[in-house]
Formats: sequence, C-alpha cells, structure tokens
Amino acid sequence: MDGVTDSLMRELLTRRMPFTYTVTEFLRVSNLTPPSHVFLRSVPELGAICCTKSTVPVGVQLLGGDANLMAESASRAASLGAKVVDINFGCPAPTVNRHDGGATLLKFPSRLEEIVSKVRAAVPKEIPVSAKLRLGWEDPTDIHRNAESVARGGASWITIHGRTKMQGYTPPAYWGPIGEVARSLDIPVVANGEIWTVDDLKRCQEMTGCEHFMLGRGALADPALVAECATFLGIPVSADASESSRDFSRWRNLILELIQMSRTAAEADRRTVARVKQWLNYASHRKTIEWFDSVKRTKDTADLTRSLTELGARYGLDSAKLAA
Ligand SMILES: Cc1cc2nc3c(=O)[nH]c(=O)nc-3n(C[C@H](O)[C@H](O)[C@H](O)COP(=O)(O)O)c2cc1C
Repeated sequence: MDGVTDSLMRELLTRRMPFTYTVTEFLRVSNLTPPSHVFLRSVPELGAICCTKSTVPVGVQLLGGDANLMAESASRAASLGAKVVDINFGCPAPTVNRHDGGATLLKFPSRLEEIVSKVRAAVPKEIPVSAKLRLGWEDPTDIHRNAESVARGGASWITIHGRTKMQGYTPPAYWGPIGEVARSLDIPVVANGEIWTVDDLKRCQEMTGCEHFMLGRGALADPALVAECATFLGIPVSADASESSRDFSRWRNLILELIQMSRTAAEADRRTVARVKQWLNYASHRKTIEWFDSVKRTKDTADLTRSLTELGARYGLDSAKLAA
C-alpha cells in the first residue's frame, strides 16, 4: 500500500502477523526503467531472496503503461532478485492515471494483454507474473474481458479488488464478479476489498469460492485480523505472529517496535512518525483506537513514545512493563 507498507512496515507486519505473502508498494515506470538503486532502496528484500526476515515472500509491484519499459523493468527486478513480479492495473490516483498507469489501463484490454505478455517474456519462466485489477474503469462487467486478457498474456494469478476506479474506495466491494471470474479462469484468483473481520472473510469466501484473499486496510486497522483469518483458513501460525489481542498494549508494542526498527535502520524520525500516524489513521476510521487523538499531533518519536507511556498509565499498564 503506497505510502504505508514500505519495507520496515512489511518487516514489522510479517514478524507480528501471520501473513503468507506481501507485495511492495507500486514502483512507477514512467519514462525510463527505474535504475537498480531505486529498486534496492524501495525493495531492500531483493538482497535477501526477496523475503522479509520472517521469510515471507515479497512480490515486486510495477506500475506503468509502456509495455517495453515495463518488460525492461521486470527484467531488471528479476536480475536483482525478484521472485514474483506483480503489475498494478488498479491504482485510481488521478496523477497516476493521467500518466497512463494503474486503473486507466482497464479501458484497453489489448494493452493489458500486451503488457503482461511482454513482462512474462522478459523474466525467467520460474518467476510468476501476476496482475492486480479493479472491476473496471467505470463498467464493472469489464472485469470479464480484462481478466481474460491478462490470463491470455500469461499471468500466473490475478488479484481483483471488487470495485471500479469510479467507485474509488466507497463501500461496498462487489465480491460477486470476483467469483464469476474465478470460476471462469483456470488460474488462481485472489479476492480483495472490504475484508475487515473474519465474518467478512467468510462471506467473501462463500461468494467467490476463492482460496486466496488479500487484506489491505483491514490488516492495518486491526492487529488481530490476520491471525484470526489465518486460523479460519487453517494456516499454521508461528509463536511470534500468534498474538491475538487488539487492545492498547498490543498497539503500543507494535508502534514501539517499529520505532526501534527505524532507529536501527537510521531512518528519519519524521518519516517514522508520519508512517505511524498514517497507519493509525486507518484504525481510527474504523473506530478501533479511541486514543488516536492523543498521538496524532506528535512530531517526533520521542514525543510519540511519551504519549504512548502516558496512555499506558491511563490504561493501567505498569511502567515496568512499559519499559520492557
Ligand atoms: C493508501 C493506499 C495505498 C494503496 N497502494 C496500493 C499499491 O501500491 N498497490 C496496490 O496494488 N494497491 C494499493 N492499494 C489498494 C489496496 O491494495 C486494496 O486493493 C484496497 O485498499 C482494497 O482492499 P482493502 O479493502 O482490504 O483495503 C492502496 C490502498 C490504499 C488505501
């Protein structure tokens, strides 16, 4: 998720939640193939068999409309160590769409096919190429022709966010068409959109018949969701990622751990705080953290840590535990 799930967040979330797979934020391919240092800065996991330290695979997502540049970029990603290349045909941001990237390509099924097939041809055959789609630009029934195009281009699987670009992020997400596509294609389909609870996951599974699900905002808003979903799906959960609480102390521990990790990575203090606030913003929209107001004006990590300590006292957490 652009602006939130950078490599440090991927590290934290895969360490503490039983994800089985993650995808990078999109890397933009506009007028030229991103140089190696850009790939390595955005996806440091490339140097570690493209997995997080908790050995969760990380797909490298590319976004762009020029099939040749996308192919060259995919080839560079593969030569740097990418194990999966994912193509973004879903981003609804006007600046991205104006530059011929993301969801705007859903208007052109033949271009979807061309991009996927050139990317497919540019990387070794053991590297899967996947694509992320919305239901369409405006017409949700376009998903059928678009999914077929992407499959014809050679995608190994597709992920479908059950909304059109015009529907933005307004609920609901339409899972029905995802199921129709899943039944009509012989490649796996990953269902995505508006899974905030295990009940949502169950309903999504019933409606789509899918075996694979992508969690976006829900996983950020509720630190217990991934473990609950994994348990429901029968996925083994390691001890490190099995914590199922969603109370204040869980949040505080996650945030302090991220601050600690960013210090180790010598990250800019302001960047860490901005990332934490954006993360908590999702949770506050879902009303899962009534304490957000107390931290949303913090300016640096010292300030943020102080606020968490004060909140800890208010929530009856003893200071010895806090120090730990
Ligand atoms: C802030 C933000 C950034 C996102 N960035 C990306 C991205 O870089 N690549 C991508 O494929 N989807 C991106 N998405 C879309 C999500 O992956 C997902 O498809 C969407 O949020 C619906 O799923 P959810 O209801 O589980 O969040 C982003 C969504 C948000 C809210």
